[in-house]
Amino acid sequence: MNIRTIEWENNKVKLIDQTKLPQRLEYLYIDELKDLWQAIKLLKVRGAPALGAAGALGVYLGIRNSKANNFMQFSKDLERVSSYLASSRPTARNLFWAIDRMHEVVFENSDMSVPKLKELLFEEADKIIKEDMASCRKIGFYGSRVIKDKDAVLTICNAGILATIDYGTALGVIYRAKEDNKEIRVFSCETRPLLQGSRLTAWELKKVGVDVTVICDNMAATLMQKGKINVVITGADRIAANGDSANKIGTFSLAVLAKYHNIPFYVAAPVSTFDLTLKSGKEIPIEERNPREIEELLFKKRVAPIGAKVFNPAFDVTPHNLITGLITDKGIIRPQYIKNIDRVVSLSAGRQVGSR
Ligand code: MRU
Repeated sequence: MNIRTIEWENNKVKLIDQTKLPQRLEYLYIDELKDLWQAIKLLKVRGAPALGAAGALGVYLGIRNSKANNFMQFSKDLERVSSYLASSRPTARNLFWAIDRMHEVVFENSDMSVPKLKELLFEEADKIIKEDMASCRKIGFYGSRVIKDKDAVLTICNAGILATIDYGTALGVIYRAKEDNKEIRVFSCETRPLLQGSRLTAWELKKVGVDVTVICDNMAATLMQKGKINVVITGADRIAANGDSANKIGTFSLAVLAKYHNIPFYVAAPVSTFDLTLKSGKEIPIEERNPREIEELLFKKRVAPIGAKVFNPAFDVTPHNLITGLITDKGIIRPQYIKNIDRVVSLSAGRQVGSR
């Protein structure tokens, strides 16, 4: 499918407004940093790698009109813009990774003029976007090997085109398997409360021509029990040094169910999602979101009584011992995770400084 989730066009950030799907494919054209912050917060743009792109473009958007005329002033403006963007959502590693990369470019070129630094920032954002396009295709290439012809794959949330620039991580594996002429069926958990699995995953799979069935989140166990699922593949928002992986709330329960039913459970993510500064998943910050997301169906119809307490964590952490393999752009990482992640990620990423 020839669409881009987020890009720079005519001096603006152009992005698909994902809150309008599946009814309408509508684009937003953003030229104010606060509007981009809001778009991230409200999940108009979402998914870890797409948030990385939003972070990179956001830094450029926020700094391009800086009046600074020396490095000191410019770096202060940069810090202000970056901290503001970083305050939008806490869990997806890629957002902070991209902001850190933008910082590095500036600090590595502190002898350059302010106009030149702005140019370098634009180029870095463009590089981050192009790298995502390439790394998703590599994830697809490696991941396709774990899928057999006629497999039924279970997934949750959206780790597809809409969560990246144009291909996807978990769904990138499915797209590549399809390109490799494998006939695949996908079961997509609807993903309460905001229904990314039914609104977004089913939308894009259908557009691409993949056989997709939407299920309520609580139907996964029965499908597995009936032998209808061959493999589970999900995305990730942040992966700790020991392989513990944070992803959309509900992922952990799928991993437990997969273990019980002896079904392989894979997590697909680029190395930019790994955070080697965190020893385990216990340290991953988990976003808690507005209770209205649970009290009301997509902010339209109240489905919980007024005054009832609500708990709304957006993500959970799947312990590494439930994960069969981590499908990355550098190959599939399997247990022993601490050793193998360190070898693959720290050697290839080289950017695991993690100041945020
Ligand atoms: O709250 P969201 O929609 O941003 O959550 C996204 C997910 O949990 C995705 O599965 C994850 O970011 C992987 S995206 C390739």
